[in-house]
Order: sequence, then structure tokens, then C-alpha cells
Amino acid sequence: MSKKVSGFSKLSKEAKIDWLIEYFFNGSQKAKEILEKYWNDDSTLQQLHDEFSENTLTNFYLPFGVAPNFTINNKLYAIPMAIEESSVVAAASKAAKFWDNRGGFKTTVLDTEKIGQVHFSFTGDVEKLNAFFNKAKPQLIDSIESIQASMKKRGGGLLDIELRDKTTEIPNYYQLHCTFETVDAMGANFINTCLEQFAQTFKGLAFSENNFTEEEKEVEIIMSILSNYVPNCVVRAEVSCPIAHLPNTPELSSKAYAEKFVRAVRIAEKEPFRAVTHNKGIMNGIDAVVIATGNDFRAIEAGAHAYAANNGQYSSLTHANIENDTFTFYIEIPLAVGTIGGLTSLHPVVKLALEMLGKPNAKELMEIIAVAGLAQNFGAVNSLITTGIQKGHMKMHLLNILNQHSATEDEKDTIVKYFEKNTVTHSEVINQLELLRS
Ligand code: MEV
Repeated sequence: MSKKVSGFSKLSKEAKIDWLIEYFFNGSQKAKEILEKYWNDDSTLQQLHDEFSENTLTNFYLPFGVAPNFTINNKLYAIPMAIEESSVVAAASKAAKFWDNRGGFKTTVLDTEKIGQVHFSFTGDVEKLNAFFNKAKPQLIDSIESIQASMKKRGGGLLDIELRDKTTEIPNYYQLHCTFETVDAMGANFINTCLEQFAQTFKGLAFSENNFTEEEKEVEIIMSILSNYVPNCVVRAEVSCPIAHLPNTPELSSKAYAEKFVRAVRIAEKEPFRAVTHNKGIMNGIDAVVIATGNDFRAIEAGAHAYAANNGQYSSLTHANIENDTFTFYIEIPLAVGTIGGLTSLHPVVKLALEMLGKPNAKELMEIIAVAGLAQNFGAVNSLITTGIQKGHMKMHLLNILNQHSATEDEKDTIVKYFEKNTVTHSEVINQLELLRS
């Protein structure tokens, strides 16, 4: 074997590791030890994880935590979160508790429509293409009858197919723009299977269309794929309370707090540099629940950021206002998630997370995830407009630094105590540790 390798995927896991050690770690067994340390003793469980992906060498842990005390539509939840960033779970829990005493979170699923497209080229008369599409539409629908049989039984299936003329953007470019309801499944496989069938049926029908010229018969399918931009699969989560019930300190009255909070959110609405960080904080909460419940966080991220820019400029996903002495803070976010299929029935910890949430359906999970995002954003903005973000952050970071330097439990206790009254900085933590050890 050499550094450039062929047939790699067919090697055993051990052989893959040996190859890695030889070419990337100068034969050091230390790397091998680290990789093996993270194997699970339960070989069935290890095999399950190995088979989620390809060329698997070991497992990569993420902390799995819980943020309790979330009251959502008068129901109490403990929200599972898988995230490595310190202070995210703590901030969510703190926000949950704060709003629990002020009526909790209220949520509404605005719509659950998913989208998929067949992108194709057609060279010819658009009027003839329109007429052909209208004639072909029932046959297209018939062609997925067996594919969507069980989805239909569950109350979902294809909603509509539209022909979209995109020739002003790219010459000869058209789409079959398809909408779906996938109920409790995220639906990616179902949608993609339907789309590939539409593409095949559409091409076949076009080829035998008598009204088409030879050139028009040669519809070229470019690709068939679902869209992760789901502006009609949106959930809203909200908190509100009388201004007088907001934090009230000598430095900031509750009225001033409300005004400062609204202004901070307004800045994120108008200023893209701030909006990106503001939304990143929201995604801290969203992704953590999405991962813990076995959903695809890349899809959620892509869709959320596209939605944040749907007015032509990247903006905040949350909004705040004051009306008649009531402070309202809300999020509207597209979330195409599932509670059946995919990892949800395969990954033991995902199953546990869903059980913890009372086995929610997809709509309920959308609501829970949106609440986690709103709570996270409330925590971040609250810190930013009061103490600043670093105070809480560095406290949590302190333990990470101590662990990095293999501090003992006694050393941790002493140093945590010291930093209750002193500002945490990386160098000062090292300083204190060295002092203690000398
Ligand atoms: C850090 O992960 C997230 C924040 O920067 C979000 C924000 O600024 O709103 C604290």
C-alpha cells in the first residue's frame, strides 16, 4: 500500500487504521490507542455505529445533555441536546426557567409543505410544452401511485406538480416544481424517489408526444432532487409577558431592559454582520436538538439561513416588540424534521431522546426545536445587553481549560473557587494551576 490508496473501503477497520498509522503518524501506536479507546465494548453497538457511515475508524463523542423545565403550550418538557459548546445547555435551561414563571412558550406550526424539483432542458415552443404538461400531469401522478401508497395511508403524499418556466434566468431551463406532505417523516428518500419517477415518466411521455418536433421530444433531465429550502414548512414559537415582569436592576429598569432587548434584535434584523452571529446563537439551540433527535442538521442549517435571507437581505430569525406594555419575542423558522425513519429508529440514544420528549410527532418536534432556538437566543441577547457574554462563557470554559491541563478534582475545586471572584482568562487559569502545583 502507499499513501495514495485504492480499494480502501474494502479493507478491514484494523487494516485501515494500520494504513493511517503508517502514512500519517510515522508508525506511532499512540494514534491507534486513541482511536481504539473510543470503540464500544459492545460489538453489536459498535457495528451499528460503524454502519451508519463508511470507512469508519472509531466513534466521535458529542456530549448529550438535557435542558429541563420547558413549558410549551402548557406541557412540560425536558429537552435533549447534543452539543460540544459549553454554556449552551446552561443558557437554554436558564431561559426555560425564566419563561416558565411567565406563561411558558407558545407555538404554532404554520405549514408543513416540502418541496422537490425536476430540473430539465426543453428546446422548443413553450405553449406546446404547457399543453403537454397539462395532459401529462395525471399520468405523472399515476406513475408514483405505488411509491406513495403507504405515505397516503399516513395522510401524506404528493400535493401538486407545477411546470415552471425559468428561461429568463437560463435558456431552455424549466422545472417540475413538486410539493409534498410527508407527515412524520422528514421525507427526503420518499421525495427523491417520486422525483426520479416523475423525471423518467416525463421524459418517456415527451419522447412519444405527437405534437412535439424531433428536437422538442428530446427533453433533457438535468437532475431530480428535493429542496432543503422549505419556506412553507414553518413553525412559530413565542414568549411574552408584561414589561414589569422582565428583569429589573438598579442599572437597567425592566422598561429599559425591554427597549434595549428590542433594539438589539432590531440591529440583527437590519445589520447582516450582527444577524449572522445572532442566528448562529439560535442554531446552537436548534442544531443541538436536531442532532439529539437524529435529524439532519445540515439540511436545517441550509434551510434556516436561506429563510433568513428571503427578503433579499440576510436578517434575524427572531423578532421582538413592545405593544401596550407587553414584551413579545418570537421566532419563525422552517424546520423539515421527522420522528420516524432515518436514524430515529436506529440510534439507541436518539430513540431515548424521542422517548424523553414523549414520542412527539413531527409537528410537535418542530415546536420543541423552535423553542430551543428561541430560548437560546433569549439567553444570548439577555447576556449581551446586561453582563456581556464572556462572564458566563468563561466560567464554563474554565472547566475545559482545567481538563485540558489534567487538573485533579482538588485542583478544580480550588481554582473554581478562586475564579468566583476573579475574571477568567486562559493565561490566569494556567497561572493559578502552576501556582497550585509549585
Ligand atoms: C456563541 O456561540 C453565540 C453567540 O455569539 C450568539 C449571539 O451573539 O447572539 C453568543
